[in-house]
Amino acid sequence: MQHIEFTPTQVIKRQSLDAAVRERERTEVGRRIGTASGCFSVPRIEGFDPASGTLTFERVLDAERMTELLPTLTAVETSRISGRCGAALAAIHDAAESCPRDDAAAGQVSLHGDFALGNLLFSRARDKLFVIDWSGARWLEEARTGHGPAAIDLSIFLLSLFYRRPLDTVRVIDPARVARAFLASYNDARAAEYDFLELRRSFPGILRRYAADRWRARGALRMLVRLDALCHVRRFVLNLPEGLE
Ligand SMILES: Nc1ncnc2c1ncn2[C@@H]1O[C@H](COP(=O)(O)OP(=O)(O)OP(=O)(O)O)[C@@H](O)[C@H]1O
Ligand SMILES: [Mg+2]
Repeated sequence: MQHIEFTPTQVIKRQSLDAAVRERERTEVGRRIGTASGCFSVPRIEGFDPASGTLTFERVLDAERMTELLPTLTAVETSRISGRCGAALAAIHDAAESCPRDDAAAGQVSLHGDFALGNLLFSRARDKLFVIDWSGARWLEEARTGHGPAAIDLSIFLLSLFYRRPLDTVRVIDPARVARAFLASYNDARAAEYDFLELRRSFPGILRRYAADRWRARGALRMLVRLDALCHVRRFVLNLPEGLE
């Protein structure tokens, strides 16, 4: 279980020592990839207390979470900014640093591990993308190792993009269009063309585990009203790469 606290200038996260050590390590890797690629930034770690498993991050003050930002943008801006997210993810996946050579030879990549809209912040004032929360999705064991199939991060992004309740007022209006902009830009930015067959093959299994986790966390009823969104994202992924230019 973790605890998060905000001061005017810092974000303080307390969790188990293991989880804190892993997040610290992954955040440093992410910062290096962000700097080297110039595609995104990662908030600086300003403190680490092993005794309490506490990590203190610099707080980004002028950025909004993509979850809230995307629904407020024009179609052109939505495509542009989701394209920036795609390019950032391509840079993470093409970074060799956290993927052992044998796994890379087997087609694995460096992962973010929880590349969801809620973990992407965007500053419109500075036109800058921040990638936060390198702790790895709790519901997906493989996401926490730092490397694995690219399909893991792609699936997590797409699930967060399509996931909503029927009456949500703040939501991305046409998630399939945003997803296409994201994936096209991801594919363009990857060093080698991405084989969408990998995503199509892995997605149903990842979706099942995501739905099971949401079911446990939120209850059956809340899950059922979102079923339509989950069917939509499933249909979208199983038709890929159709619709990507
Ligand atoms: N450095 C930061 N600057 C500004 N806001 C931040 C920062 N870090 C985290 N936040 C805010 O706090 C929220 C939770 O942070 P984070 O995602 O790191 O924690 P978490 O508990 O692992 O989240 P979750 O389990 O919901 O993914 C983020 O969605 C973001 O709104
Ligand atoms: Mg998070």
